[in-house]
Amino acid sequence: MSEWYKEDLAFIHDDGFRDYALKSAPGILEILRQNKINSGLVVDLGCGSGLWANELVKSNYQVLGVDISEAMIAIAQNRVPQAKFYVGSVFKIAIPPCHAVTSISECLSYLFDADNNRQNLIQLFRRIYQALTPGGVFIFDIVEAGQIAIGNKTKNFTEGKNWLVLVEKEELRSQNILTRRIITFRQVGEYYRRDEEIHYVQLYRATQIATDLRKIGFRVQTTRNYGSYYLPKGNAAFIARKPFPD
Ligand SMILES: C[S@@+](CC[C@H](N)C(=O)[O-])C[C@H]1O[C@@H](n2cnc3c(N)ncnc32)[C@H](O)[C@@H]1O
Repeated sequence: MSEWYKEDLAFIHDDGFRDYALKSAPGILEILRQNKINSGLVVDLGCGSGLWANELVKSNYQVLGVDISEAMIAIAQNRVPQAKFYVGSVFKIAIPPCHAVTSISECLSYLFDADNNRQNLIQLFRRIYQALTPGGVFIFDIVEAGQIAIGNKTKNFTEGKNWLVLVEKEELRSQNILTRRIITFRQVGEYYRRDEEIHYVQLYRATQIATDLRKIGFRVQTTRNYGSYYLPKGNAAFIARKPFPD
């Protein structure tokens, strides 16, 4: 069992934090169409509970979703039986030949896999480039520094019908890492079950990521929105296209 997005946080993320995936979906579908990708395989890295995979399947794409969290994959399999899902780290899995690769809602920034570092991220970009058919696109977003003032800790809570989540955030600027301490309470029978996770998220500079992608051969556009959905402050998205040969 992975230590992150365990059963209760996976449930709460799916129930209460679905806006990022669902509101991004129309804009990302439009990017696929603009690139004349109207069918074929889309590999979704950090697919979570399959919210985006579901939108893809409804639009006639085939989907392979990968996520490190068994609990997330269990929800995804139940939601989208037509798609294929796999539990594993995106830094370790083989990426099959495909028309598009997506990674929505900061997945590549999470330091869940000890192998997630800049060198292996660039290596992942290379593997994605090799897997994409010419004209294929890689669409993803990351977190940049600056969401939280230096030296500050923010504390927030969100509640749903039968759950409550408390999040304490801090940016460790010397290491360019954002920490999120997440405490969940979920109703199980008469009582509320408490759980806790700490997520470490690498803060990248969008300009650096764009340069890394261009060196590999991608044509890159950086954006702060997927269609009409504007990403949270401090997030940047990339539309990286593999060009057709001359
Ligand atoms: C914020 S959630 C987003 C989930 C989904 N993309 C969505 O938009 O609803 C981030 C996801 O990335 C996954 N993740 C983080 N690091 C990963 C890794 N190295 N390999 C696979 N999945 C990873 C987490 O388990 C989690 O499901």
